Amino acid sequence: MIEFKGVHKTYPDGTEAIKDFNLKVQEGELLTLIGPSGCGKTTTMKMINRLVEPTAGEIYIDGRQLKDYSIHELRWNIGYVLQQIALFPHMTVEENIAVVPEMKKWKKKEIHDRAKELMRMVGMEPSIYLKKKPSELSGGQAQRVGVIRALAADPQILLMDEPFSALDPISREGLQKDIRKLQRQIKKTIVFVTHDIDEATALGDRICLMNAGEIIQVDTPQKLILEPRDSFVRSFIGDKKSPWQTAIDIVAAQSVSHILTQTAYEAGDFDPDQAYILTSDDGQLLCAVEHGKQQNVLAVPSDMNVLEAVHTFEEAGANILPVTKGEELIATVTQQELLRYLAGKTEVRNGVVTQ
Ligand SMILES: Nc1ncnc2c1ncn2[C@@H]1O[C@H](COP(=O)(O)OP(=O)(O)O)[C@@H](O)[C@H]1O
Ligand SMILES: [Mg+2]
Repeated sequence: MIEFKGVHKTYPDGTEAIKDFNLKVQEGELLTLIGPSGCGKTTTMKMINRLVEPTAGEIYIDGRQLKDYSIHELRWNIGYVLQQIALFPHMTVEENIAVVPEMKKWKKKEIHDRAKELMRMVGMEPSIYLKKKPSELSGGQAQRVGVIRALAADPQILLMDEPFSALDPISREGLQKDIRKLQRQIKKTIVFVTHDIDEATALGDRICLMNAGEIIQVDTPQKLILEPRDSFVRSFIGDKKSPWQTAIDIVAAQSVSHILTQTAYEAGDFDPDQAYILTSDDGQLLCAVEHGKQQNVLAVPSDMNVLEAVHTFEEAGANILPVTKGEELIATVTQQELLRYLAGKTEVRNGVVTQ
């Protein structure tokens, strides 16, 4: 667990980079740090591995103050991945991966096995790639090696500072998937800096949104979208749809036939004081009748989706419409039934849409 308590950082030139920063990153959590350029993301990261010292406040790892750790202990237990991965160019991929484990005096075989295991985790065949030099890798492959090099000595914490921002969208998406998979397997505490809200919501258990050295909101992606604290958060998130909106879209795209079981129509089986559909003897639709008044009738084909059916109701100006299959009248549907369906059929739990 990483904890910031009342942390400030003012650089020697007077720049106030971090102001009263209070944050707990839980064990095994992936927290994304996001905010505009210059808001203090990199400074926050560098304070965790003491590349930068706070001017006030304390930082704890597992309840122990950072200054009580030796620098070696700290650096070896914290993997650090930067935007521009600096692999050592004269070393092979395997030698690059081995740097920290060798410092930690791991055995050669242990290091080799670990390198192979990690390469497989990110989909790079060890027998091909371990022997290559960094110049023989694509940008995406080099970045993967950078990530697993940071993981090689099994650090507790992984800091990633815009690690994928220099990559093309396809490599980037692939690496995001790798990170999610790795996170499930290895359960590290990860702080991941990005300036891309899509990346932040895709990866983060929680998102910490910063502005001008301060935390504006720390929440799960769903909460950030549903309950933005202020207009800054709202504008940063942009026009992301809420899970509820997504759920409604999904339900609305289903066909009207989903509702029919409740409203199966039987000829003659209606209450004349209520609403019904009047047909001619040969089955032609004549009109809708509501409280004795005739209304327009438009057919709702049973495979029409719920949203289109809502529009059909608007167009007809009626509260009841016939549902047809081909030429045949098979049911009626009312506006209330549509509404009940939209309102009651959908549940959102932890942002997962279930129906
Ligand atoms: N070594 C430094 N000396 C002085 N100012 C710095 C230094 N490093 C960063 N800053 C300033 O601190 C603020 C936060 O920078 P940084 O943490 O790099 O932001 P971010 O990573 O969010 O873009 C910026 O105003 C930046 O110019
Ligand atoms: Mg930065």
